[in-house]
Amino acid sequence: MAQNWTPGSWRQKPIQQVPEYPDAAALAATEATLATYPPLVFAGEARRLKKQLANVAEGNAFLLQGGDCAESFLEHGADNIRDFFRAFLQMAVVLTYGAQLPVVKVGRIAGQFAKPRSSNVEAQDGVTLPSYRGDIINGIEFNEASRIPNPERQLDAYRQSAATLNLLRAFAMGGYANLENVHQWMLGFIKDSPQADRYRKLADRISETMDFMKAIGISADNNPSLRETDFFTSHEALLLGYEEALTRVDSTSGDWYATSGHMLWIGDRTRQLNHAHVEYFRGIKNPIGLKCGPSLTPDNLIELIDALNPANEAGRLTLICRFGHDKVADSLPKLIRAVEKEGRKVVWSCDPMHGNTITLNHYKTRPFERILSEVESFFQIHRAEGTHPGGIHIEMTGKDVTECTGGARAVTADSLSDRYHTHCDPRLNADQALELAFLLSERMKSGRDEKRLAIANA
Ligand code: PEP
Ligand code: CO
Repeated sequence: MAQNWTPGSWRQKPIQQVPEYPDAAALAATEATLATYPPLVFAGEARRLKKQLANVAEGNAFLLQGGDCAESFLEHGADNIRDFFRAFLQMAVVLTYGAQLPVVKVGRIAGQFAKPRSSNVEAQDGVTLPSYRGDIINGIEFNEASRIPNPERQLDAYRQSAATLNLLRAFAMGGYANLENVHQWMLGFIKDSPQADRYRKLADRISETMDFMKAIGISADNNPSLRETDFFTSHEALLLGYEEALTRVDSTSGDWYATSGHMLWIGDRTRQLNHAHVEYFRGIKNPIGLKCGPSLTPDNLIELIDALNPANEAGRLTLICRFGHDKVADSLPKLIRAVEKEGRKVVWSCDPMHGNTITLNHYKTRPFERILSEVESFFQIHRAEGTHPGGIHIEMTGKDVTECTGGARAVTADSLSDRYHTHCDPRLNADQALELAFLLSERMKSGRDEKRLAIANA
């Protein structure tokens, strides 16, 4: 167990990104209430995910992590969850087919509510108010009352997370994710999308294979891995009071686990060594992520790995790289070399979203070609270094939103206003997400072929 650690020891450390709750007693009362609520996830599930991530760290699986930038109370509904899950499954099946590796599925969902902000305040038409920090903290409406942090929102976020998780578990285990439905996941897909055609062809091949397997006696009826899938949840554990209230001892191992989600990550703005967030994370046993931006030096990174994964356990730590298409070539190789030199076991994942945000027509957006470019560089660099490009971390939705420009159905700067719904950062729509999956699948397929060739020539 981590030394001198308690679920609340982070309170003694310097901390960034803290909301100013006007009523400390009300906040403490809410946290005390949350501490009596049931855990949202079970420690055994977090261990199962860690094992799957260890497989990624060893080069034998691929991580797909994605979902909203910020979940919202307003968009909470069955359709949104189903559409997201469907788009996610489509991506996963495309990646599995391309990589011929298991895909570890982790949603940014059922708890992704708290947002770090670059400024504490927001000004509009001469009025300055506290920034929106995510629905778990305050409201997005630009008025004074809504922007005051309200602890009651933590209870709503907990309930929404529980309901979302419940539906996701039902989809994952109750038949929706059955591979025999691979064509049905097309329903609701945009008719004129070039991805729809590509996807249909792939689904045909999968169905054909399933028919063959059925003929030899292997079917979804007698083989659970064809009809069920593991689906895990994750979020940025920014609001540590909420996390502390849901941190519990696992009765089977005696270890502390965060039970607000299976995997939690530390944001790029809150990863200071000896500060509160790193302190909290070092004591929980869940698999964790660390966002790595351009300001992270190789020495910094090794110190953080020492603090967060002292036992060098594979699957414990995922490095989520978010440098930007123009910085990745400069930033990533030196981090990889430092980690390799020290023999640290990590999952390398690429977040091609957060380093590629620009403003167009007053909208925060991300050009799809820059997203693809960062992903391409990430893969090339790993091939050159001989390391495994283990995963992708994206902001996406199952809806046909217009938040990122570009893609095969070309969202333009002028069409951003058509369906710009995000509460925080711009997300890939279902079409763009699938296009990205096809690109990744091609890259992984060529990586696979290269490896086979190298083995054959050896
Ligand atoms: C995010 O993932 O939404 C986020 C804020 O990322 P980062 O910490 O990498 O900026
Ligand atoms: Co974001």
